[in-house]
Amino acid sequence: MTIVQRVHDAFAGHYGRAPLWIASAPGRLNLIGEHTDYNDGFVLSMAIELRTAIAAAPNDTRKIVLHSEVAAETAVIDLSQPLVPEAPGRWLNHPKGVVAGFVAAGHEPRGFDALVGSSVPIGAGLASSAALEAATATLLEGVCGVELDPVRKALLCQQAEHTYAGMPCGIMDPFICILARRDQVLLLDCRSREAVWLAFEDPDVTVLSINTNVKHRLADGAYALRRRQCETAAQALGVRSLREAGLEMLARADGLDHATRGCARHVITEIARTVQAAQCLRERAWAELGQLLDASQESLQRDYGVSCPELDAVVEIARAIGPRGGVFGCRMTGGGFGGCAMALIATSAAAAITQRIGTEYQRRTGIAATVFASRPADGARLSHPQEQGRRVHALGGAIVNRYVDYQP
Ligand code: GLA
Repeated sequence: MTIVQRVHDAFAGHYGRAPLWIASAPGRLNLIGEHTDYNDGFVLSMAIELRTAIAAAPNDTRKIVLHSEVAAETAVIDLSQPLVPEAPGRWLNHPKGVVAGFVAAGHEPRGFDALVGSSVPIGAGLASSAALEAATATLLEGVCGVELDPVRKALLCQQAEHTYAGMPCGIMDPFICILARRDQVLLLDCRSREAVWLAFEDPDVTVLSINTNVKHRLADGAYALRRRQCETAAQALGVRSLREAGLEMLARADGLDHATRGCARHVITEIARTVQAAQCLRERAWAELGQLLDASQESLQRDYGVSCPELDAVVEIARAIGPRGGVFGCRMTGGGFGGCAMALIATSAAAAITQRIGTEYQRRTGIAATVFASRPADGARLSHPQEQGRRVHALGGAIVNRYVDYQP
């Protein structure tokens, strides 16, 4: 059963009537271009076949009633009251921030009942927050009868993350969750917001996500700190953003502390690697692309300081398997400090690689990893189940089949 079908049935069970709208949005996996989006750089990213879905139908009040299967909780957004952020860390901040964005743009929704379900793991570096925001924004388009320009919609979601969730994220996650295309990878220029789509449909090559199933606490504070260090470095170099900087410029700069210099070096080299990686993808040069992934990991670990022992363990195990065993490259993906690593692998070796990473990771850390493979998936979608009878759209249908859950 897909997540879209599941929320349909769960909505009917919870509210005793059928939903009128179902919106869904995918998680994302960043192939390369890590911590470059807020430095005006490039990212090379795709959506995955895990989604967050919201089923909803109008009610006769001025309240949005949201039941989250994930949080096992029902929350209410009262549209007759001024909208303000919830306590930090509350899941409701994500949808509420998006509702506030719609209201501020002059699109006040009517009251409705909704049920949220998700197959995107939370806090795993796969943009679960952006998936929830993009699904909410897509649902609100249905409720309000408007269609926002996709870029405006992505920026509205980013704003919700900044002002309601308190996370000063870049534009990568909402852009992918909204704009993504099946079997394509997005090379996004985060300065001009120009999108270049690259086909990624070679059946011989697979992207594996390896969830370390740990999330270290310092993640949010450390993210904001890295952002500030990048701004400090750009200022010291006399450029608007690190996109405009080069290694020679950095070598000539005085007065940067060790950590700030490392941050700048990571961003400058990562932007260059991302552009090269896009070229490798065009040429299907998988071994070369794998080397760029490995170099990205070293840079994130040594210069940017956002890896952690569990991510390092996965990367070491994958490297030991190496190209001969079918691993072209492996790196952490997302913000870091836990969550997922990704590996570019030969499809024929997927089962053996999954087994070996699972066994060794558990032996080293005592934690079971969750491994899954995904093709690039579609972005946010809205369906009207009642108009289509029970034929809700089948996005996310591959979830169950493609899950390669590791069994210890
Ligand atoms: C998080 C943020 C993104 C991006 C990544 C790191 O996922 O939400 O904007 O900065 O970290 O690449």
